[in-house]
Amino acid sequence: MTEVFEVNPEQPDPELIGRAAARLRDGGLVAFPTETVYGLGVNALDRTAVRRLFQAKGRPSTDPLIVHITAIQTVKPLVSQVPAVVETLAARFWPGPLTLVLPRSPAVPPEVTASLDTIAVRMPAHPVAHALITAAAIPVAAPSANLFSRPSPTRAAHVLEDLRGRIDIVLDAGETAVGVESTVLDVTSDPPVILRPGAVTPEMLREVVGTVRIRETNAAPTESMPSPGLLERHYSPRAPLTLYDGPNAVTTLLREAVAAAALGQRVGVLVMSGDLDGAFFFTAERKALAQDRITLRELGTDLSDVARSLYAALRDLDSAGADVILARAFSQADGLGLAIGDRLRRAAAGRVVHT
Ligand code: TXA
Ligand code: MG
Repeated sequence: MTEVFEVNPEQPDPELIGRAAARLRDGGLVAFPTETVYGLGVNALDRTAVRRLFQAKGRPSTDPLIVHITAIQTVKPLVSQVPAVVETLAARFWPGPLTLVLPRSPAVPPEVTASLDTIAVRMPAHPVAHALITAAAIPVAAPSANLFSRPSPTRAAHVLEDLRGRIDIVLDAGETAVGVESTVLDVTSDPPVILRPGAVTPEMLREVVGTVRIRETNAAPTESMPSPGLLERHYSPRAPLTLYDGPNAVTTLLREAVAAAALGQRVGVLVMSGDLDGAFFFTAERKALAQDRITLRELGTDLSDVARSLYAALRDLDSAGADVILARAFSQADGLGLAIGDRLRRAAAGRVVHT
Protein backbone atom coordinates (compact mmCIF):
# COMPACT_ATOMS: atom_id res chain seq x y z
CA MET A 1 0.00 0.00 0.00
CA THR A 2 1.28 3.41 -0.93
CA GLU A 3 -0.11 6.33 1.10
CA VAL A 4 -0.40 9.74 -0.54
CA PHE A 5 -0.08 12.80 1.72
CA GLU A 6 -1.08 16.07 0.08
CA VAL A 7 1.00 18.86 1.54
CA ASN A 8 1.27 22.59 0.99
CA PRO A 9 4.47 23.18 -1.03
CA GLU A 10 5.48 26.24 1.02
CA GLN A 11 4.23 25.23 4.46
CA PRO A 12 3.76 21.46 4.73
CA ASP A 13 1.68 20.18 7.66
CA PRO A 14 4.19 19.25 10.41
CA GLU A 15 2.00 16.30 11.44
CA LEU A 16 2.21 14.69 7.99
CA ILE A 17 5.92 15.53 7.68
CA GLY A 18 6.46 13.90 11.08
CA ARG A 19 4.74 10.69 9.94
CA ALA A 20 6.76 10.55 6.73
CA ALA A 21 10.00 11.26 8.64
CA ALA A 22 9.24 8.47 11.13
CA ARG A 23 8.68 6.09 8.19
CA LEU A 24 12.08 7.06 6.75
CA ARG A 25 13.77 6.44 10.10
CA ASP A 26 12.10 3.00 10.23
CA GLY A 27 13.62 1.99 6.89
CA GLY A 28 10.63 3.01 4.73
CA LEU A 29 10.58 4.39 1.19
CA VAL A 30 9.19 7.94 0.99
CA ALA A 31 8.86 9.93 -2.24
CA PHE A 32 9.09 13.71 -1.85
CA PRO A 33 9.32 16.77 -4.09
CA THR A 34 12.57 18.65 -4.61
CA GLU A 35 12.96 21.79 -6.71
CA THR A 36 14.23 19.62 -9.61
CA VAL A 37 12.17 16.39 -9.70
CA TYR A 38 10.54 14.07 -7.14
CA GLY A 39 13.02 11.90 -5.23
CA LEU A 40 12.53 8.50 -3.59
CA GLY A 41 14.11 8.76 -0.16
CA VAL A 42 15.54 6.21 2.26
CA ASN A 43 17.79 6.39 5.30
CA ALA A 44 21.27 6.49 3.69
CA LEU A 45 22.78 4.73 6.72
CA ASP A 46 20.38 1.74 6.56
CA ARG A 47 21.77 -0.75 4.02
CA THR A 48 18.65 -2.96 4.05
CA ALA A 49 16.48 0.04 3.21
CA VAL A 50 18.92 1.07 0.46
CA ARG A 51 18.68 -2.42 -1.06
CA ARG A 52 14.87 -2.23 -0.98
CA LEU A 53 15.10 1.09 -2.79
CA PHE A 54 17.14 -0.36 -5.67
CA GLN A 55 14.61 -3.21 -5.90
CA ALA A 56 11.58 -0.90 -5.95
CA LYS A 57 13.04 1.14 -8.81
CA GLY A 58 14.47 -1.83 -10.71
CA ARG A 59 17.72 0.10 -10.65
CA PRO A 60 21.03 -1.73 -11.18
CA SER A 61 23.11 -1.70 -7.99
CA THR A 62 26.01 -0.27 -10.01
CA ASP A 63 24.26 3.12 -10.24
CA PRO A 64 25.19 5.26 -7.18
CA LEU A 65 22.71 7.44 -5.24
CA ILE A 66 22.74 11.11 -4.21
CA VAL A 67 22.63 11.73 -0.45
CA HIS A 68 20.41 14.67 0.54
CA ILE A 69 21.13 16.86 3.55
CA THR A 70 19.79 20.12 4.99
CA ALA A 71 22.72 21.41 7.05
CA ILE A 72 26.30 21.88 5.94
CA GLN A 73 27.76 20.30 9.11
CA THR A 74 26.08 16.99 8.20
CA VAL A 75 28.39 16.63 5.17
CA LYS A 76 31.45 15.98 7.37
CA PRO A 77 30.48 12.47 8.58
CA LEU A 78 29.74 11.40 4.97
CA VAL A 79 33.11 12.35 3.49
CA SER A 80 36.76 11.58 4.14
CA GLN A 81 37.90 15.04 3.19
CA VAL A 82 36.33 18.34 2.11
CA PRO A 83 37.99 19.83 -0.99
CA ALA A 84 38.63 23.58 -0.67
CA VAL A 85 36.12 24.62 -3.39
CA VAL A 86 33.21 23.05 -1.50
CA GLU A 87 32.78 25.94 0.91
CA THR A 88 32.61 28.46 -1.94
CA LEU A 89 30.22 26.33 -3.99
CA ALA A 90 27.96 25.54 -1.03
CA ALA A 91 27.84 29.19 0.02
CA ARG A 92 26.70 30.21 -3.47
CA PHE A 93 24.51 27.29 -4.64
CA TRP A 94 23.14 25.44 -1.58
CA PRO A 95 20.33 24.88 -1.02
CA GLY A 96 19.79 24.37 -4.74
CA PRO A 97 20.10 22.09 -7.78
CA LEU A 98 23.82 21.31 -7.45
CA THR A 99 25.15 17.87 -6.46
CA LEU A 100 28.80 17.61 -5.41
CA VAL A 101 30.83 14.42 -5.82
CA LEU A 102 33.23 14.16 -2.85
CA PRO A 103 35.63 11.57 -1.37
CA ARG A 104 33.51 9.07 0.60
CA SER A 105 33.81 8.27 4.28
CA PRO A 106 34.09 4.52 5.06
CA ALA A 107 31.11 5.03 7.41
CA VAL A 108 28.73 5.29 4.43
CA PRO A 109 27.32 1.89 3.37
CA PRO A 110 28.88 0.86 0.03
CA GLU A 111 25.36 0.11 -1.35
CA VAL A 112 24.72 3.86 -1.47
CA THR A 113 27.67 4.69 -3.69
CA ALA A 114 27.80 1.46 -5.72
CA SER A 115 31.09 0.78 -3.91
CA LEU A 116 32.74 3.87 -5.41
CA ASP A 117 35.18 5.72 -3.16
CA THR A 118 33.26 8.92 -3.84
CA ILE A 119 29.83 10.09 -2.65
CA ALA A 120 27.36 12.50 -4.26
CA VAL A 121 25.82 15.04 -1.83
CA ARG A 122 23.16 17.68 -2.38
CA MET A 123 21.14 20.14 -0.29
CA PRO A 124 17.73 20.52 -1.96
CA ALA A 125 15.90 23.87 -1.92
CA HIS A 126 12.26 22.67 -1.75
CA PRO A 127 10.55 23.49 1.60
CA VAL A 128 8.97 20.00 1.72
CA ALA A 129 12.30 18.23 1.16
CA HIS A 130 13.87 20.51 3.74
CA ALA A 131 11.16 19.82 6.33
CA LEU A 132 11.23 16.05 5.76
CA ILE A 133 15.01 15.62 5.97
CA THR A 134 15.29 17.95 8.95
CA ALA A 135 12.52 16.11 10.82
CA ALA A 136 14.06 12.71 10.04
CA ALA A 137 17.47 13.99 11.18
CA ILE A 138 19.30 11.49 8.96
CA PRO A 139 21.08 11.76 5.60
CA VAL A 140 18.53 10.74 2.94
CA ALA A 141 19.65 8.81 -0.14
CA ALA A 142 17.27 9.65 -2.97
CA PRO A 143 17.32 8.87 -6.68
CA SER A 144 14.58 10.28 -8.89
CA ALA A 145 11.30 8.54 -7.97
CA ASN A 146 10.73 6.73 -11.29
CA LEU A 147 11.24 3.19 -12.51
CA PHE A 148 14.75 2.76 -13.90
CA SER A 149 15.23 4.38 -17.34
CA ARG A 150 11.78 6.08 -17.33
CA PRO A 151 11.54 9.90 -17.42
CA SER A 152 12.02 11.48 -13.98
CA PRO A 153 8.78 12.46 -12.18
CA THR A 154 7.84 16.13 -11.94
CA ARG A 155 4.44 15.41 -10.32
CA ALA A 156 3.23 12.98 -7.66
CA ALA A 157 1.01 11.33 -10.30
CA HIS A 158 4.18 10.33 -12.23
CA VAL A 159 5.61 8.73 -9.09
CA LEU A 160 2.40 6.73 -8.59
CA GLU A 161 2.30 5.73 -12.26
CA ASP A 162 5.68 4.02 -11.82
CA LEU A 163 5.84 3.03 -8.16
CA ARG A 164 2.35 2.64 -6.66
CA GLY A 165 2.34 -0.36 -4.33
CA ARG A 166 6.15 -0.52 -4.28
CA ILE A 167 6.81 2.38 -1.88
CA ASP A 168 5.36 3.50 1.47
CA ILE A 169 4.47 7.19 1.14
CA VAL A 170 4.32 9.94 -1.50
CA LEU A 171 4.33 13.56 -0.35
CA ASP A 172 2.33 15.35 -3.04
CA ALA A 173 3.14 19.06 -3.28
CA GLY A 174 2.26 19.64 -6.93
CA GLU A 175 4.56 20.26 -9.87
CA THR A 176 8.32 20.75 -9.38
CA ALA A 177 9.85 24.06 -10.44
CA VAL A 178 12.98 23.16 -12.41
CA GLY A 179 11.91 19.93 -14.09
CA VAL A 180 15.34 18.44 -14.90
CA GLU A 181 17.69 16.81 -12.39
CA SER A 182 20.47 18.61 -10.53
CA THR A 183 23.85 19.44 -12.01
CA VAL A 184 26.37 16.80 -10.87
CA LEU A 185 29.83 18.30 -10.32
CA ASP A 186 32.85 16.16 -9.46
CA VAL A 187 35.07 18.20 -7.15
CA THR A 188 37.50 15.36 -6.43
CA SER A 189 39.43 16.43 -9.54
CA ASP A 190 41.00 19.81 -10.24
CA PRO A 191 39.53 21.54 -12.21
CA PRO A 192 36.07 20.24 -11.26
CA VAL A 193 34.14 18.29 -13.91
CA ILE A 194 30.43 18.50 -14.73
CA LEU A 195 29.24 14.88 -14.99
CA ARG A 196 25.60 15.80 -15.63
CA PRO A 197 24.45 19.27 -16.75
CA GLY A 198 21.51 20.87 -14.93
CA ALA A 199 20.02 24.17 -13.79
CA VAL A 200 23.30 25.33 -12.25
CA THR A 201 25.00 26.07 -15.56
CA PRO A 202 28.71 25.95 -16.49
CA GLU A 203 28.76 29.77 -16.64
CA MET A 204 27.35 30.05 -13.11
CA LEU A 205 29.96 27.60 -11.81
CA ARG A 206 32.84 29.30 -13.65
CA GLU A 207 31.89 32.63 -12.13
CA VAL A 208 32.56 31.16 -8.72
CA VAL A 209 35.40 28.65 -9.18
CA GLY A 210 37.12 29.59 -12.46
CA THR A 211 37.84 26.66 -14.74
CA VAL A 212 35.22 23.91 -14.96
CA ARG A 213 35.36 21.08 -17.47
CA ILE A 214 32.32 19.41 -19.02
CA ARG A 215 32.40 15.68 -19.52
CA GLU A 216 31.29 14.40 -22.93
CA THR A 217 27.79 13.05 -22.33
CA ASN A 218 27.23 10.75 -25.27
CA ALA A 219 29.90 8.26 -24.37
CA ALA A 220 29.63 4.91 -26.13
CA PRO A 221 28.01 2.33 -23.83
CA THR A 222 31.20 0.25 -23.83
CA GLU A 223 33.33 3.07 -22.43
CA SER A 224 33.93 3.01 -18.67
CA MET A 225 31.45 5.35 -17.01
CA PRO A 226 32.33 7.59 -14.06
CA SER A 227 28.66 8.52 -13.67
CA PRO A 228 26.33 5.72 -14.72
CA GLY A 229 23.57 8.28 -15.27
CA LEU A 230 25.52 8.92 -18.46
CA LEU A 231 24.21 5.62 -19.73
CA GLU A 232 22.59 5.96 -23.10
CA ARG A 233 18.86 5.32 -23.26
CA HIS A 234 18.05 6.90 -19.96
CA TYR A 235 15.09 9.18 -19.29
CA SER A 236 13.23 7.37 -22.04
CA PRO A 237 9.58 7.29 -23.00
CA ARG A 238 8.25 3.90 -24.17
CA ALA A 239 7.84 5.07 -27.77
CA PRO A 240 11.10 5.48 -29.72
CA LEU A 241 12.06 9.16 -29.88
CA THR A 242 13.88 10.75 -32.82
CA LEU A 243 15.56 14.15 -32.61
CA TYR A 244 15.68 16.67 -35.47
CA ASP A 245 18.65 19.00 -35.55
CA GLY A 246 19.84 21.77 -37.90
CA PRO A 247 18.32 24.76 -39.71
CA ASN A 248 15.41 22.83 -41.26
CA ALA A 249 14.71 20.70 -38.21
CA VAL A 250 11.14 21.77 -37.52
CA THR A 251 9.99 21.66 -41.16
CA THR A 252 11.50 18.21 -41.70
CA LEU A 253 10.09 16.93 -38.43
CA LEU A 254 6.56 18.12 -39.25
CA ARG A 255 6.63 16.65 -42.77
CA GLU A 256 7.75 13.30 -41.37
CA ALA A 257 5.10 13.45 -38.66
CA VAL A 258 2.39 13.92 -41.30
CA ALA A 259 3.88 11.15 -43.45
CA ALA A 260 4.01 8.70 -40.53
CA ALA A 261 0.44 9.56 -39.50
CA ALA A 262 -0.72 8.99 -43.09
CA LEU A 263 0.72 5.47 -42.81
CA GLY A 264 -1.45 4.86 -39.76
CA GLN A 265 1.06 5.49 -36.99
CA ARG A 266 0.26 7.47 -33.84
CA VAL A 267 2.79 10.27 -33.73
CA GLY A 268 3.86 12.44 -30.80
CA VAL A 269 5.45 15.79 -31.68
CA LEU A 270 7.57 17.89 -29.29
CA VAL A 271 8.36 21.46 -30.32
CA MET A 272 8.72 24.88 -28.72
CA SER A 273 5.83 27.32 -28.76
CA GLY A 274 6.29 29.46 -31.86
CA ASP A 275 8.01 26.67 -33.83
CA LEU A 276 4.79 26.16 -35.79
CA ASP A 277 4.41 29.78 -36.85
CA GLY A 278 4.32 29.68 -40.63
CA ALA A 279 4.01 25.89 -40.78
CA PHE A 280 0.75 26.18 -42.76
CA PHE A 281 1.10 22.87 -44.54
CA PHE A 282 1.34 21.06 -41.21
CA THR A 283 -1.74 22.68 -39.77
CA ALA A 284 -3.70 21.93 -42.94
CA GLU A 285 -2.49 18.36 -43.35
CA ARG A 286 -3.05 17.61 -39.73
CA LYS A 287 -6.65 18.76 -40.07
CA ALA A 288 -7.25 16.92 -43.30
CA LEU A 289 -5.86 13.49 -42.63
CA ALA A 290 -4.21 12.96 -39.34
CA GLN A 291 -5.86 15.03 -36.67
CA ASP A 292 -6.34 12.23 -34.17
CA ARG A 293 -3.10 10.48 -35.00
CA ILE A 294 -0.81 13.39 -34.18
CA THR A 295 -0.48 14.56 -30.59
CA LEU A 296 1.33 17.86 -30.41
CA ARG A 297 3.08 19.15 -27.28
CA GLU A 298 4.41 22.70 -27.29
CA LEU A 299 7.00 22.89 -24.54
CA GLY A 300 6.86 26.64 -23.92
CA THR A 301 8.50 29.83 -25.07
CA ASP A 302 11.75 29.79 -23.10
CA LEU A 303 14.19 27.18 -21.88
CA SER A 304 12.97 27.15 -18.28
CA ASP A 305 9.44 26.36 -19.56
CA VAL A 306 10.91 23.57 -21.69
CA ALA A 307 12.85 22.09 -18.75
CA ARG A 308 9.77 22.24 -16.52
CA SER A 309 7.43 20.56 -19.01
CA LEU A 310 9.71 18.11 -20.83
CA TYR A 311 9.32 14.94 -18.73
CA ALA A 312 5.55 15.41 -18.28
CA ALA A 313 5.24 15.79 -22.06
CA LEU A 314 7.18 12.55 -22.67
CA ARG A 315 4.88 10.72 -20.25
CA ASP A 316 1.77 12.31 -21.81
CA LEU A 317 2.78 11.13 -25.27
CA ASP A 318 3.24 7.61 -23.93
CA SER A 319 -0.22 7.75 -22.33
CA ALA A 320 -1.67 9.02 -25.62
CA GLY A 321 -0.39 5.78 -27.16
CA ALA A 322 2.24 7.32 -29.43
CA ASP A 323 4.04 4.75 -31.62
CA VAL A 324 6.84 7.22 -32.34
CA ILE A 325 7.88 10.59 -30.93
CA LEU A 326 9.54 13.27 -33.06
CA ALA A 327 11.25 16.09 -31.16
CA ARG A 328 13.18 19.19 -32.09
CA ALA A 329 16.76 19.11 -30.77
CA PHE A 330 18.28 21.65 -28.39
CA SER A 331 21.90 22.19 -29.34
CA GLN A 332 22.86 25.15 -27.16
CA ALA A 333 26.36 24.70 -25.77
CA ASP A 334 25.60 26.47 -22.51
CA GLY A 335 22.84 27.58 -20.15
CA LEU A 336 19.83 25.41 -19.45
CA GLY A 337 19.87 24.31 -23.11
CA LEU A 338 22.84 22.09 -22.29
CA ALA A 339 20.82 20.07 -19.76
CA ILE A 340 17.72 19.86 -21.99
CA GLY A 341 19.79 18.79 -25.00
CA ASP A 342 21.55 16.18 -22.88
CA ARG A 343 18.31 14.60 -21.59
CA LEU A 344 16.70 14.58 -25.04
CA ARG A 345 19.78 13.03 -26.67
CA ARG A 346 19.69 10.23 -24.13
CA ALA A 347 15.94 9.75 -24.54
CA ALA A 348 16.65 9.44 -28.29
CA ALA A 349 19.43 6.87 -27.70
CA GLY A 350 21.34 8.06 -30.75
CA ARG A 351 18.42 8.58 -33.16
CA VAL A 352 19.28 12.06 -34.47
CA VAL A 353 18.36 13.38 -37.92
CA HIS A 354 20.54 16.28 -39.13
CA THR A 355 18.72 18.58 -41.53
O1 TXA B 1 17.88 16.52 -9.00
C1 TXA B 1 18.35 15.42 -8.65
O2 TXA B 1 19.57 15.21 -8.61
C2 TXA B 1 17.34 14.34 -8.22
C3 TXA B 1 16.65 14.78 -6.95
C4 TXA B 1 15.74 13.71 -6.40
O3 TXA B 1 17.59 15.19 -6.01
N1 TXA B 1 18.02 13.09 -8.04
C5 TXA B 1 18.50 12.34 -9.07
O4 TXA B 1 19.06 11.14 -8.68
O5 TXA B 1 18.45 12.70 -10.22
P1 TXA B 1 19.42 9.96 -9.70
O6 TXA B 1 19.77 8.81 -8.84
O7 TXA B 1 18.31 9.79 -10.64
O8 TXA B 1 20.71 10.46 -10.42
C6 TXA B 1 21.93 10.52 -9.70
C7 TXA B 1 23.06 10.80 -10.62
C8 TXA B 1 23.37 9.62 -11.51
O9 TXA B 1 23.74 10.10 -12.78
C9 TXA B 1 24.55 9.00 -10.78
O10 TXA B 1 25.35 8.23 -11.63
C10 TXA B 1 25.26 10.22 -10.27
O11 TXA B 1 24.24 11.08 -9.86
N2 TXA B 1 26.13 9.89 -9.11
C11 TXA B 1 25.73 9.53 -7.88
N3 TXA B 1 26.80 9.26 -7.10
C12 TXA B 1 27.88 9.46 -7.86
C13 TXA B 1 29.30 9.35 -7.61
N4 TXA B 1 29.79 8.96 -6.45
N5 TXA B 1 30.12 9.65 -8.65
C14 TXA B 1 29.64 10.04 -9.84
N6 TXA B 1 28.33 10.16 -10.13
C15 TXA B 1 27.46 9.87 -9.15
MG1 MG C 1 17.18 9.15 -12.15
